[in-house]
Amino acid sequence: EQIKKGSYDHFMQKEIHEQPHSLTTTMRGRLKDSGVLLGGLKEYLKTIRRSRRVVFIGCGTSYNAALAARPFVEELTGIPVAMEVASDLLDRQGPIYREDTAVFVSQSGETADTLFALDYALENGALCVGITNTVGSTLSRKTHCGVHINAGCEIGVASTKAYTSQIVAMAMLALAVGSDQISTQARRNVIISGLSSLPSKASEVLKLDAEMKELASSLIDSESLLVFGRGYNYATALEGALKVKEVALMHSEGMLAGEMKHGPLALVDENLPIIVIATRDACFSKQQSVIQQLLSRKGRLIVMCSEGDTSAVCPSGSCRVIKVPEVADCLQPVINIIPLQLLAYHLTVLRGFDVDQPRNLAKSVTTQ
Ligand code: G6P
Repeated sequence: EQIKKGSYDHFMQKEIHEQPHSLTTTMRGRLKDSGVLLGGLKEYLKTIRRSRRVVFIGCGTSYNAALAARPFVEELTGIPVAMEVASDLLDRQGPIYREDTAVFVSQSGETADTLFALDYALENGALCVGITNTVGSTLSRKTHCGVHINAGCEIGVASTKAYTSQIVAMAMLALAVGSDQISTQARRNVIISGLSSLPSKASEVLKLDAEMKELASSLIDSESLLVFGRGYNYATALEGALKVKEVALMHSEGMLAGEMKHGPLALVDENLPIIVIATRDACFSKQQSVIQQLLSRKGRLIVMCSEGDTSAVCPSGSCRVIKVPEVADCLQPVINIIPLQLLAYHLTVLRGFDVDQPRNLAKSVTTQ
């Protein structure tokens, strides 16, 4: 069946707005009151629980999705998580052990670097798990087991709905692996109910579309954009900046807010726009102090915060604020990325660039 844009101007726009639905299809039939059911992993849960490390491997947006998953995978499973960009693992021929669970994340399931890294992990005897959107892809055939994210076909080169569905698939993986731990049962219940609320929260946050278009028009001539995040939302900062870079062709960097003092602070002036992600979680007060430090250097701030927190994040009223609905803290990255996807989309249109086929990029990079 031919996929059409329908009432949308671009596939990227359609895919951003489809997220309430794609998140629903990722979870369909998998969330139970008693826990999570992932047919493709069932036989392997015991082996994963016994592994010495979980190693996440991917490229681009898929790597960022794995980075978003890292904190809750560590929390719910107690297993240390290592992060590997596929090409860098291969360049270093980094250590992969028989006792490792290597989790490969790829929308297409055909990215060359990721597939070479998969061959390498298989040779080294690791248990290989695939998280992909493409049934029958090389990744899904070569891994021992895995989870299909079922987000529906993604056409825009810049990945949007696959990113949020990948995070949700990894949250379900973490819940399934951690399901034998009595001490985290209450926390798992909170996350399961957070997962079921995601589609409606995604619909809510999509209402920021016009506001993000307006914000985009104020940034149209900027040369650069910084995005500061930490904790659960470090990945959101990297992914938001990647979206702006790849489609709007604007220099943009995602940064760990905890590293601000070690270099990035030198860039701050009244012209450089800086997005600070400061939604509610254990890092909130640290982000409040980052905002204060940036404001004292006259930074041009756009703060993303939970509803009702405007004055808590910016008592002086001198920041622009993006208010997002709150979900369970570890799932907040699924919601927080959506306004940044909208921002990147509108910036691209306003700057007159090709949204669905950005210059020099391909949907799936099948050569090394
Ligand atoms: C390309 C695409 C990105 C994507 C990356 C990884 O660079 O332009 O949008 O994130 O490949 O692709 P994969 O299919 O492995 O997720």
